[in-house]
Amino acid sequence: MFKMQIISSCTILSMLVFNILCTGNGKEDWIIAFNPPVITAVPGLCALISCNFTYPEAAKPIENVQWLVCKNVQCNKNEKMFKGKVSTQNKIELEEKETETERIKMLEPDLTKNNCSIIMKDIKAEDENEYAFRVVGQGKHKSTYNPTVKIIIQDKPKMGIPSLSEGVEANLTCSAPFPCPETPPEITWWIKTRGENIINLKDDITLITRSLYISTLPLTPTSKMHNATVGCDVSYGNKTISASRTLEVTCEYKYTYLTKFLEKACFFDNC
Ligand SMILES: *[C@@H]1O[C@H](CO)[C@@H](O)[C@H](O)[C@H]1NC(C)=O
Ligand SMILES: *[C@@H]1O[C@H](CO)[C@@H](O)[C@H](O)[C@H]1NC(C)=O
Ligand SMILES: *[C@@H]1O[C@H](CO)[C@@H](O)[C@H](O)[C@H]1NC(C)=O
Ligand SMILES: *[C@@H]1O[C@H](CO)[C@@H](O)[C@H](O)[C@H]1NC(C)=O
Ligand SMILES: *[C@@H]1O[C@H](CO)[C@@H](O)[C@H](O)[C@H]1NC(C)=O
Repeated sequence: MFKMQIISSCTILSMLVFNILCTGNGKEDWIIAFNPPVITAVPGLCALISCNFTYPEAAKPIENVQWLVCKNVQCNKNEKMFKGKVSTQNKIELEEKETETERIKMLEPDLTKNNCSIIMKDIKAEDENEYAFRVVGQGKHKSTYNPTVKIIIQDKPKMGIPSLSEGVEANLTCSAPFPCPETPPEITWWIKTRGENIINLKDDITLITRSLYISTLPLTPTSKMHNATVGCDVSYGNKTISASRTLEVTCEYKYTYLTKFLEKACFFDNC
């Protein structure tokens, strides 16, 4: 019994020592964090990839850093979006041979800041990929970081329209990506009813996060709004994306049966 305890404490002790050795060995030091890990980008605009990273002491001095394009979890070392040589002052300098590099800018050229954030300019549909950051240090100390960051392309805002009943206030939402700090989005709502001109509407609340912009429009539908078109336009500087939907307004009180008939009644202002 006593012997067993000695053995098990030894096991625990050796596991601890082993762990410390492993950490010292640096295997765990290749760490990257993306915030956010998925970026929704708009064609023609820029996209900010925000990240930080660590690397083991033994890898120093770092020779170069790269951004690789990954498809189906495979990151291709030959498909580099960016390659920067690291100078003796730990500053990242572009390697001129790479063709894509003028589209990408590392925001923090000082490698000791552990900041791998980049801005990608002029996003195109083909940029919908995963990307990996790669650091090449001394000898065998190199790593293509896992996890990767994903860029998703969205070319229209997303509208959220709840079911609408005449006279009952409802909140309509329009959400647009906010991928590029240089051009914050501005949302405009409009409605076009049958035979009437376009009316611009005022939104109520705008919720802005680093990657998303959501505008809420409180709307009290009238029967006139049945079959009207509601839309939101989102401008980023001189680039605008839009979405629109047809409104269906039903009657609140006579709703329970013969719905179709009553919708028509609504349309003829009979509610
Ligand atoms: C990276 O950023 C996160 C917070 O976003 C922080 O907790 C972490 O310590 C940072 N890592 C490095 C290496 O700076
Ligand atoms: C990275 O550096 C850029 C530019 O200096 C800065 O705006 C950003 O906040 C930094 N990000 C992190 C995660 O430290
Ligand atoms: C609309 O949103 C506002 C603000 O979030 C909220 O106070 C209100 O109750 C919402 N109205 C409806 C009908 O959900
Ligand atoms: C709704 O609008 C469409 C197209 O503008 C039109 O064809 C249809 O007849 C309208 N329906 C009603 C119920 O007004
Ligand atoms: C839109 O703005 C960008 C940057 O602000 C500029 O490069 C581009 O030429 C502008 N395009 C048009 C059509 O004005």
